[in-house]
Amino acid sequence: MKKIRINTSKPYDVIIQRGGLKNAGEYISSVIKSKRTVIITDDTVGGIYGEILGKSLEKSGISYDIFTFPHGEASKNLSTLGDIFNFLCSCELTRSDFIIALGGGVTGDMAGFAAGAYLRGISFVQIPTTLLAQIDSSVGGKTAVDLPGGKNLVGLFKQPDLVICDSDTLDTLTDEIFADGMAEAIKYGMIRDKSLFELIENHNSGNIRDVIDDVVYSCIDIKRDVVENDEFERGERMILNFGHTIGHALEAHHNYTDYTHGQGVAAGMCYISRRFAPADISERLEKCVKCYGLPTDDEAGIENLLSYCSRDKKCESDNINYIVCEEIGKAQIRKSSLSEFRCLMEEKNNGR
Ligand code: NAD
Ligand code: GLY
Repeated sequence: MKKIRINTSKPYDVIIQRGGLKNAGEYISSVIKSKRTVIITDDTVGGIYGEILGKSLEKSGISYDIFTFPHGEASKNLSTLGDIFNFLCSCELTRSDFIIALGGGVTGDMAGFAAGAYLRGISFVQIPTTLLAQIDSSVGGKTAVDLPGGKNLVGLFKQPDLVICDSDTLDTLTDEIFADGMAEAIKYGMIRDKSLFELIENHNSGNIRDVIDDVVYSCIDIKRDVVENDEFERGERMILNFGHTIGHALEAHHNYTDYTHGQGVAAGMCYISRRFAPADISERLEKCVKCYGLPTDDEAGIENLLSYCSRDKKCESDNINYIVCEEIGKAQIRKSSLSEFRCLMEEKNNGR
């Protein structure tokens, strides 16, 4: 078992352990006194892992109810969140009780939001079951739901009390969902860790699973460092958004249905790098991204995508922040007016 301590305003541990789900009750009991919880999960994950978690909680004397919602980004909205609040209330969950998020980033974002707002905040535990959620969304305290006008537009910061990453749960992911997480792993290599990038580059989608525990550990450790320095994203934390400006535009352009978050990030990193990174870096990134079956481009023209950028959270008045990696392992935050950004992007990505 490996443990990473996250020293944010409320410190907590991330436990990384194969088979850790079976021990969840014991780990939770060591940080939370309450013996009462609500598990929030989607219909897919609940079906596969709900019983294992339930048994572990029972073994530790923790009673639970389960709220299940239909899987997928389309559920990450105010309507599902309202249903969650009503469910918590009907279960008479009190301030000293807690919530468990069992699932991917969609589950974690909604459960975290609910935990941050219900009774003005109760404890919560993240048990992320996708690679993306293990290395990114479960750590750092960002929570949100989507509005018809855009992604993650309503949210709050709520650090969990504990995160349990069991890489055995990654075995049931489809290749496509696993690859989504690899997009974020490639991002960490690009922004902070050349050796992580090389580890990913030197494996391919066939054998990266052999070293996935190391990948998960390295990514969470990078996120720890960034989030400890800038918990509320006033500066450095923005580097975690490498590829996200165009990535979110791609997701929106595809109505959040046929383009996943990871695919958006992968193509987004490539769009930005084609324009701002030296050709050898951009080509190396594209090769690595392709190797994991992720997109490097899209038929939506850059002009089309830029129309979504003004609605992105990374926009401040008429300015946009975007992240550039001129070298592997080093990221810079740049700021331009939207019109300047448009000109810069069109120069190199014209017509793509
Ligand atoms: P997701 O939660 O929708 O999971 C993807 C799919 O995988 C779902 O259909 C789910 O049912 C299934 N699944 C999950 N675990 C499984 C398992 N172990 N076995 C089989 N199937 C499983 O999406 P995601 O890709 O995990 O996360 C994407 C979301 O995370 C987006 O909404 C994005 O905005 C958010 N996000 C948040 C942050 C943050 O910091 N809060 C960071 C990155 C992404
Ligand atoms: N996923 C980006 C962040 O947590 O800041």
